[in-house]
Amino acid sequence: MIVGVPRETFPGENRVALVPGVLAALTKHKWEILIEKNAGLAAGFRDQDYVDKGAKIASREEVFQKADIVLQVRALGANPEAGRADLPLLRKEQIVIGMMEPLTAGREAAALAERGATAFALELIPRITRAQSMDVLSSMATIAGYKAVLLAANHLPRMFPMLMTAAGTVTPAHVFVVGAGVAGLQAIASARRLGAKVEAYDVRPAVKEQIESLGGKFVELPIETGQAEDKGGYAKAMDEDFYKRQRELMLSVVAHSDVVITTAAVPGKKAPVLVTAEMVRAMAPGSVIVDLAAERGGNCELTRPGETVRAGEVTILGPLNVPATIPYHASQMFAKNVTNFLVNMITKQGEFNIDCNDEIVSETLVARGGQVVHPRVRETLGSPASA
Ligand code: NAI
Repeated sequence: MIVGVPRETFPGENRVALVPGVLAALTKHKWEILIEKNAGLAAGFRDQDYVDKGAKIASREEVFQKADIVLQVRALGANPEAGRADLPLLRKEQIVIGMMEPLTAGREAAALAERGATAFALELIPRITRAQSMDVLSSMATIAGYKAVLLAANHLPRMFPMLMTAAGTVTPAHVFVVGAGVAGLQAIASARRLGAKVEAYDVRPAVKEQIESLGGKFVELPIETGQAEDKGGYAKAMDEDFYKRQRELMLSVVAHSDVVITTAAVPGKKAPVLVTAEMVRAMAPGSVIVDLAAERGGNCELTRPGETVRAGEVTILGPLNVPATIPYHASQMFAKNVTNFLVNMITKQGEFNIDCNDEIVSETLVARGGQVVHPRVRETLGSPASA
């Protein structure tokens, strides 16, 4: 098998799908690795580093021409404009593996199918124990949660830790994290490491213990959240009455926080608005909101995705593609995830086999044999019947 890694073309995308450190897991199966010239440079990996681990350096055309499997951080769907340029390069039955936002970019999945590609969307990796080491959403969320705290600290006119010095006592910053999934928990941990006092809330009551184990305080809101978790462990969309009540109850917590980090998401849906303009007005001058849900529209009413805005004296950041701002470790983690995903499809005899009886395979397979085959993606295209 030949695995090809093209350079990422999404604007500002500094990550790369494979790093030199993971190549041995593939070369030991006698697989060949083709890396597009300079594909890893923005993430801190030189062509020579890949060559030293057994890869060959090639042009983009050569990568697409020769590879049986193309690995991308952002395949078409997650790279809606520049990614189109790759379509004519794809061959029938060529395997494309990457993030492709399949639940919101169904048309792009259909375009891959029309080219005859076999496409796997890594966002759809099931949240099961066996697939944890392949879970790109978790690893990228870990990076985003950490970076959100640094962004907040950088914009806050205060320090995070409590300090008792000869020049007086500095009180710790109050940080409120909304949504304690993977990104939120990492934000809690990172803010605690910097010495902040951290509170957090999530609609899934199961996270209370996790928040507390990281030294955060779980904010109890007297609203019924019994139905908030689906069987995959994700939050379900709640109705507008619920969100209205949640906003009312969160107002006082937001008002006394120096930093609010929002991460609340519902898979495949627009992010719920949980911080209103009124809540922002109640915050002290200099406070900072980092809205990690900006990519999905934002949890704060005033967020402008990709921008930093001032609302009165409050700074609101809506950063996009945060993991790409820490490309070295983001690529390292992504590469490990995607390699584990590939190795899972190698049989004991060393053959590459797409076995749809394996739920990791069937849940991520989006396009095959000229069709979009994933039921949830087909639903978004208005053709729910299975292919
Ligand atoms: P996510 O990125 O989809 O959402 C972030 C967080 O926002 C979630 O915790 C969600 O409950 C919360 N949220 C949604 N609506 C909210 C609201 N109105 N107010 C406050 N919070 C709200 O979630 P993520 O980080 O991908 O994780 C979701 C779940 O999957 C967690 O239970 C996590 O532990 C689990 N998980 C399981 C894995 C495995 O078993 N392999 C791997 C990774 C995560």
